[in-house]
Amino acid sequence: MFIIKQSKDIGVYLQKLASNGQKIGFVPTMGALHKGHLSLVDAARNQSGLVVCSIFVNPTQFNDTKDFELYPKTLENDIYLLEKAGCDVVFVPEVDEIYPSGTEVNDHYDLGYLETVLEGEYRKGHFQGVCQVVHRLLDIVKPHDLYLGQKDYQQCMIVKKLLTLIDSPASVIVCPTLRETNGLAMSSRNMRLSGSEKEKAGGIFEALTYIGRYIKAGLLSDITAEACSILEQKGLSPEYVHVAKAENLELIERWDGQTQLVALIAAYMGKVRLIDNMILPLNFANYGN
Ligand code: PAJ
Repeated sequence: MFIIKQSKDIGVYLQKLASNGQKIGFVPTMGALHKGHLSLVDAARNQSGLVVCSIFVNPTQFNDTKDFELYPKTLENDIYLLEKAGCDVVFVPEVDEIYPSGTEVNDHYDLGYLETVLEGEYRKGHFQGVCQVVHRLLDIVKPHDLYLGQKDYQQCMIVKKLLTLIDSPASVIVCPTLRETNGLAMSSRNMRLSGSEKEKAGGIFEALTYIGRYIKAGLLSDITAEACSILEQKGLSPEYVHVAKAENLELIERWDGQTQLVALIAAYMGKVRLIDNMILPLNFANYGN
């Protein structure tokens, strides 16, 4: 596995391989890798000639500086895991490699409604930061396929929108969420939880599963209220529990019993903010691809 720090180096190297007809599968990450990330590498390896992964904790997507400072960094172990997972190239840039003019001067993307709700509402500027870094990484890596996790459902939709805004030929491949045995979605932020907090944070999956099991046509307020109380009983503080149309994230309060939905939760366990989602009704399992 090659470890590359400079964008010009990776650009030249990948261009040579791409001109030999190698399909490039790209997995962007912020490091502190876990099995969820590695499942994206696996998917990329199964479908591409060359797998590129990036590790970059992107400062422009953190609306909370404390969250940025506390973001776990485990580079040595990440590299070990990626090598074992069969990644071919890992790109580990410094901030000025991605933001040569500084992090203050950046493009603005017209993301419309999508960045006004859910994560966009509670993390102002977050998706602009995601677009800035993904745009830059796409320019450098020029992948055929971009592998993203359904765990960040809204991010998948934002990145798809970005690709249309910048006329990128890359395709997005959305991979399923990997979970701990108690249902907690794997996340780098889980490293900041104690064992008992991790156990209780399984309440997020429990709340989503509750919605999945009991949702029926009509008003949804009772079911989302019950999901909130499941979270609270586990010591989680919900920021939102919403049900939205899966295709465009329009928030809904009443369901026609037909439209494909997604239930989305953001909740704090102590100071750690966690998100998760579930496609509904439960037999619609194939979002995105
Ligand atoms: P990060 O949180 O490191 O996640 C990198 C990728 O791994 C994302 O596509 C995310 O959805 C996916 N992922 C995270 N947890 C997962 C899980 N439990 N199962 C499956 N996939 C999972 O998302 C980001 O980084 C950044 O915003 C990034 C896109 C790299 C831009 O900076």
